[in-house]
Amino acid sequence: MSQAKKTSFSAPKGVPDYVPPSSAAFLHVRDTFSHQARLAGYEHIELPIFEDTALFARGVGESTDVVSKEMYTFADKGDRSVTLRPEGTAGVMRAVIEHNLDRGQLPVKMTYAGPFFRYERPQAGRYRQLQQVGVEAIGVDDPVLDAEVIALADRCYKSVGLTGYRLEITSLGDHSCRPAYRQKLQDFLLDLPLDEQTRHRAQINPLRVLDDKRAEVREMTADAPLMLDHLSAECREHFETVTGLLDEMGVDYVINKRLVRGLDYYTKTCFEFVHDGLGAQSGIGGGGRYDGLMAQLGGQDLSGIGFGLGVDRTILALEAEGVGPVDSSRCDIYGVAMGDAARIKLGAITHVLRTHGLRADMSFGQRGLKGAMKGADRAGAKFALVIGDRELETSTAAVKDLAAHTQEDVSFDRLTDYLATKLGR
Ligand code: HAM
Repeated sequence: MSQAKKTSFSAPKGVPDYVPPSSAAFLHVRDTFSHQARLAGYEHIELPIFEDTALFARGVGESTDVVSKEMYTFADKGDRSVTLRPEGTAGVMRAVIEHNLDRGQLPVKMTYAGPFFRYERPQAGRYRQLQQVGVEAIGVDDPVLDAEVIALADRCYKSVGLTGYRLEITSLGDHSCRPAYRQKLQDFLLDLPLDEQTRHRAQINPLRVLDDKRAEVREMTADAPLMLDHLSAECREHFETVTGLLDEMGVDYVINKRLVRGLDYYTKTCFEFVHDGLGAQSGIGGGGRYDGLMAQLGGQDLSGIGFGLGVDRTILALEAEGVGPVDSSRCDIYGVAMGDAARIKLGAITHVLRTHGLRADMSFGQRGLKGAMKGADRAGAKFALVIGDRELETSTAAVKDLAAHTQEDVSFDRLTDYLATKLGR
């Protein structure tokens, strides 16, 4: 028999593991966001992790960094080009069109949560597998819906205890005003002494140049024409209704006329949540309206609006703010058995406790009292149930309150009620 070669593996570069105890924070943030979305009437949608490459090329836009450089694209065994989803909006639109969800009551309101993949240069807060919770509201061009989506994102952050973030908002106009503005901006940019690459960008995606972080480019573009000053009357009114409603809701925001998003499909309202405790990767979530996307993907000409909230960066932001760790205890009750017969009995008792909805675990194998009590501690348990020969004889368990350092003998048939009451269930 050949001996197996010993190798050890690491997760792929830029791909985080979420291991205990910090996985508790991950679940907490993701599930709190999803819960908030469901409170506002968004239904869960679970989508494929990979799709036809053309969906993202057409939906997200060929000139974006996401499509041109960051996609995980490969040919499957049938030689079809598929791509690990870099974002969620295009997939939701595809599914809505494919399943005729837009033929019923509008807006269609969907929420999703899960991993997305971007081949970016990994650094703190920038991963190649990232986690988002998103919503999409499709089919109605109503500024009240824009405000709903933005206020929902704001409630998501607030409900996990985040405070030190800023909501930046602008309008990117639509087909009635953006083409003329784009031309104006391009003319302005092409008059500047830009380097070759930036010039090229000005030709294919001039708005992206406004997002350039280099000081010299910022200086040159300080007087560039800005979309917000060139909105059509209709887009302006739409934007003012959104900001007016946000004011009424008490959602704080700042208007950032230079806000540029990394994806091409946005029109009208556009927003980003920024946290200054995160260094360069400060965007904790963002979104906007995308009026032409559905038609672009072969569906009806319906509008939509949505957001994607970054779960990873929200966790980092919570850490930066020093918001206390969430409860990462594995169980409330931990069984400690002295001897084989007691361990078998505890196996049956923990089953009953779990059947009644209590969180219970126990020590396995032949561990001494000290080691098993350590296990109770590590699991974050509030109570230890100690059973040995004496307890088996009297059909009682010694229940130790691990915080109060008290102990009480409780008969087996009263255990569930006793613990449920103590735990406030
Ligand atoms: P996005 O701005 O590309 O929008 O991504 C949303 C959020 O995902 C970002 O604000 C950030 O927190 C997080 N994120 C993005 N890339 C990374 C990364 N490499 N590492 C860690 N976190 C990251 C979208 O994806 C749009 N689909 C949102 C949307 C929905 N717009 C309309 N509907």
